[in-house]
Amino acid sequence: MTQPSSTATEADDTRSSSAARQSLRTSPTPLADAVLKVARRDIASFHALPLSHGRSILGSRTREAYEALFGPAQLAADVSYSGTMLDSFFRPRGPLREAQRLAAQSFGADTTLFLSAGTSTANRVALAALTRPGSRVLADRSCHQSVHFALGSLAVDVDYTRMRRCCEDCPRTFADLPGLLEAFAKAAADGQPYDTVVLSAVSYDGVRYDLPTLFRAMAEIHPTVSVLVDEAWGAIHRFHPQLRPLTALYAVQKLKLDDPALPMTVAVTHSAHKSMSALRQGSYLHLVGDRETQERTAQALFQHHTTSPSFPVLASLDLARAQAETEGEALLDRSLSLAQTLRTEIGTDPRLSAYRTLGPEGHLTDPSLLVADDPTRVLVDIAGLGVTAADFRRLLFDEYGVYVARESGSAVLFHVHIGVDEATMRRLLDALRTVQRTYRSASAALTEGTADHFIIAYPPGIPITVPGERMCDRTLDQLNALRTSGSEIYTLYQPQTAQLSPAGLE
Ligand SMILES: Cc1ncc(COP(=O)(O)O)c(C=O)c1O
Repeated sequence: MTQPSSTATEADDTRSSSAARQSLRTSPTPLADAVLKVARRDIASFHALPLSHGRSILGSRTREAYEALFGPAQLAADVSYSGTMLDSFFRPRGPLREAQRLAAQSFGADTTLFLSAGTSTANRVALAALTRPGSRVLADRSCHQSVHFALGSLAVDVDYTRMRRCCEDCPRTFADLPGLLEAFAKAAADGQPYDTVVLSAVSYDGVRYDLPTLFRAMAEIHPTVSVLVDEAWGAIHRFHPQLRPLTALYAVQKLKLDDPALPMTVAVTHSAHKSMSALRQGSYLHLVGDRETQERTAQALFQHHTTSPSFPVLASLDLARAQAETEGEALLDRSLSLAQTLRTEIGTDPRLSAYRTLGPEGHLTDPSLLVADDPTRVLVDIAGLGVTAADFRRLLFDEYGVYVARESGSAVLFHVHIGVDEATMRRLLDALRTVQRTYRSASAALTEGTADHFIIAYPPGIPITVPGERMCDRTLDQLNALRTSGSEIYTLYQPQTAQLSPAGLE
């Protein structure tokens, strides 16, 4: 069968993949290698995936779009071979098993499973494995929806711990962990201990739990407890000495050093795609537990995971682990340093005076709360700009090609992950300065009384102010009304051109 012809992109792919392989030379990648091997072979498949190698689109008008979106390499790597031809997803014996073994070793787990269906599925699998009908579950109220849905579908008895907010100034929320430990101890003292505890230990907003303290306390109160720790946002933390000590697998390893026979079971879920170089939906489910729990977890995977796993996603989990082992610390050094640069610039540069970083000083610093700050997150209050956080996000995306996922009140969150480099940070800082120059001056003009900007809402596109115009209260009302009705607000600086009467509609 004819292969799609070789292109410059393929040559580039080959060059960059050999460079990547060279930098990974100290860490084997058995699954990625095996997928690459079958992707390179000319195999006539009579099974599924007509799109593999681009065969079903060879003569199609859609081919160009497919190749532009996915590239020949991805079309070749999306394979559907199973069993001894590549490996079995549910009962791996070949390269997938070896890749999972290497990941377990790297993260410090007894076993690790790869999932190509995200941590939403990993949480469901873990909870199905850790609980039995009638189990008593103590769950952190701040868990992701997948935990709540999974618990709702299991015949278990759930109590939630309440959530608390960081402080009046800062919108970050997390579980009341001293309250959780109190409820856990009381239940044990009452002779009705909780069988399973669920914690969301690394939040998107940059709150991390003090897992060593929590685990130690739980092990003393009820050592046979099983714990699911959702560390969706913190997979990479294992690979940096500053971040590792609070991770679940490190905490349980330390406990087991003191008491190797400790019967506590710990499952940890990681969205590798959120913090490591894994493709979207690539997640790890790690387990520290006995053979029976390992088998229950394998069975739960069989029940809940798609039977058509994505091999590119699974291979990326293998590569992401290898990269993290060899380069993770250096990449995280860069993230930590760039996050600090962002905080320092905002704190010292007058061109960024409309912004204010929230934390870490004074935030999450009370050790009795059992939480800590994730230094790769920078939460920035933008109230000083005079635009809403939603408008600010839209503006950054549309005008500056900068994406921020999260807004909370008047704050937005920057995740300085390992893909953010010095140039990306410069681009963000430049964008923040430009936004301040335009928006701050506009809102300052509204309070000072005279506009030195055009402020234009679109639609309708008629200036609300022109430079030199005197402002009145109605101007602000008009601006707010247009914003609420969905108009986009633009500002344009031009030197003062006229002395005009008050703006607004008479
Ligand atoms: C804490 C937490 N757990 C689990 C998930 C789900 O992860 P995934 O997107 O990998 O399914 C998310 C998603 O944002 C999350 O924030």
